[in-house]
Amino acid sequence: MPGSDVFTPPTSFSSQAHVGSLDEYRSLCRRAEEDPENFWAEMAEAEVHWFEKWSHVFEWNPPFVKWFVGAKTNAAYNCLDRHLETRGDKAALLFEGEPGDRRSISYRELHEMVCRFTNVLKARGSRPGDRAIIYMPMIPEAVVAMLACARLGVTHSVVFGGFSAEALKARIQDLDASLVLTADGGWRRGKEVRLKDAVDEALTDCPGVRNVIVARRCGSSVQMTAGRDHWWHELEEGVGADCPAEVLDAEHPLFVLYTSGTTGKPKGILHTTGGYLTYTTCTMKWVFDLKEDDVYWCTADVGWVTGHSYLVYGPLSAGATCVLYEGAPDYPAWDRWWEIAARDKVTTFYTSPTAIRALIKQGDSYPAKHDLSALRLLGSVGEPINPAAWEWYHRVIGKERCPIVDTWWQTETGGIMISPMPGAVPLKPGSGTFPMPGILPEVVDFEGKPVAPGGEGFLIIKRPWPSMIRTIWGDPQRFEQQYFSRIPGIYFTGDAARCDEDGYYWILGRVDDVMNVSGHRLSTMEVESALVRHPAVAEAAVVGKPHEITGQAVCCFVTLKQGASTDHSALGKELRQWVAHEIGPFARPEEIRFAESLPKTRSGKIMRRLLREIVTSHTVTGDVTTLEDLGVVTKLAAQHDDD
Ligand code: WTA
Repeated sequence: MPGSDVFTPPTSFSSQAHVGSLDEYRSLCRRAEEDPENFWAEMAEAEVHWFEKWSHVFEWNPPFVKWFVGAKTNAAYNCLDRHLETRGDKAALLFEGEPGDRRSISYRELHEMVCRFTNVLKARGSRPGDRAIIYMPMIPEAVVAMLACARLGVTHSVVFGGFSAEALKARIQDLDASLVLTADGGWRRGKEVRLKDAVDEALTDCPGVRNVIVARRCGSSVQMTAGRDHWWHELEEGVGADCPAEVLDAEHPLFVLYTSGTTGKPKGILHTTGGYLTYTTCTMKWVFDLKEDDVYWCTADVGWVTGHSYLVYGPLSAGATCVLYEGAPDYPAWDRWWEIAARDKVTTFYTSPTAIRALIKQGDSYPAKHDLSALRLLGSVGEPINPAAWEWYHRVIGKERCPIVDTWWQTETGGIMISPMPGAVPLKPGSGTFPMPGILPEVVDFEGKPVAPGGEGFLIIKRPWPSMIRTIWGDPQRFEQQYFSRIPGIYFTGDAARCDEDGYYWILGRVDDVMNVSGHRLSTMEVESALVRHPAVAEAAVVGKPHEITGQAVCCFVTLKQGASTDHSALGKELRQWVAHEIGPFARPEEIRFAESLPKTRSGKIMRRLLREIVTSHTVTGDVTTLEDLGVVTKLAAQHDDD
């Protein structure tokens, strides 16, 4: 039964934890709630280096917020320079490439790499306030690229290497970027992912891009456009590593990260500098209980928010040693992660439920081959973790010794919002447990009224926090409408949740048309827009279908134009490939179903709820009185039995 087991933190963990008891946790929360100004000022002083202090802690004019108003800082300075004296020789990155190449990079070395590359960017004419796209594999240069942008005040947007040229182009254009940082390619399951080719394809329509800097990773030949494209290593020749960090405003835009919303157009979530760093650094201690000798590994790609907050900015700002692995978990075999964890003596391991489920399927013999005894804490992010996956993670990986932090948060929240503090909070598998200090969630109904304990409702956050989204890049109206209009002035998460009698939060999933595939957000509209761009498609409706490993899978209902091919098997393959090309391979639909028409309300809205029911249960129940043509639904439901 989910929720029936409670796991009290082992005394051996609590006794050494930053926050070692429920009382301590509650007292932090009380202080943060009663006096947020002083609480956050204290945290900011303790965790972040400031060139100049703020005039006031925050300014809240819903939906807009500013934190540490008037203060000056620099994210790269915080991640590098301030550690040089005390941690200069400590490893910042333990890199492992998929082919097996390894590099240990100390804080001093990483600082030097970042300074030199910042000088390269300056020499190419980049200035604070410019925008750069980073489209790179998981190699140290990706971290260097992010930190060099941060050092100079160039706002970066990392685009996950699994996105297509089309998706890349849309992001370059929306951001009006002048610089693209990329690599020839990256290694994935023994094959080269040709990143530079995708950049070339995207740039046919992006005249604003003046410089493309290409790191050499795979060594294969790529096209270089004279005047625009440069090799990273060539530009660095003879360039010095003396480069003071820019003194930037606390509200200077650090990065924009695109994520799926409820329309076909991804939204650029803007995060700024001072509040973001304060919050991500604090949560490294609160959630990951980070200690000086920890070896911390977050398996997320730098292209997702987890890779920003808990692979780069949070851990490096906190002075951690971080494992960085380029490739796939199953290459060359399903024990690759455990091999790395054993060799590097990883103490803290943070991954997604999808990955855990995929690993479970391979059996216990893979982890059993390796010594995982250095592990002391496990984490999960991206989707609800089901009890069976939790149990396996706890028993087989953590040997029933390691607490599991189930961390709920979003691209928009910048940092972890609801999660156990592992030395303080008894765990209930599948629950993110309690909010972080200063975070005030609530479960409410349609009118915004609190739901009684145990009841389901919408999850909202009642107060601003330092790392919250500042706006949607270039679209403040959409920002307000998306997050602050359902209940005016209050942040609406888009998730449904339940808070039980003990105050534990249980996240139930999205309430909008956003799917969660392998912990990656994908909007149904985005896939639909891609499908209707195909010449054979008249209409498309997309829903998430429950999937054993990836949580949800993309299932598409498609009607065809007159005269389109009747070879559904070939066309199905083509459309799946088409979506992969338009958005990226991770969005490739699991299933395409062809229909004569789609079920619609009388006002013409596609009834996705019904389609969802069809793919979930193969039957349709509930209210269908607004349906234009009931026959369509019956046919779609029946079709499954014909397959
Ligand atoms: C879901 C990822 C349950 C949720 C950091 C949220 C989760 C969306 C959890 C954000 C969790 C994330 N338990 N659901 N621990 N973590 N989610 O922006 O629906 O990629 O709204 O950020 O993932 O996804 P995003």
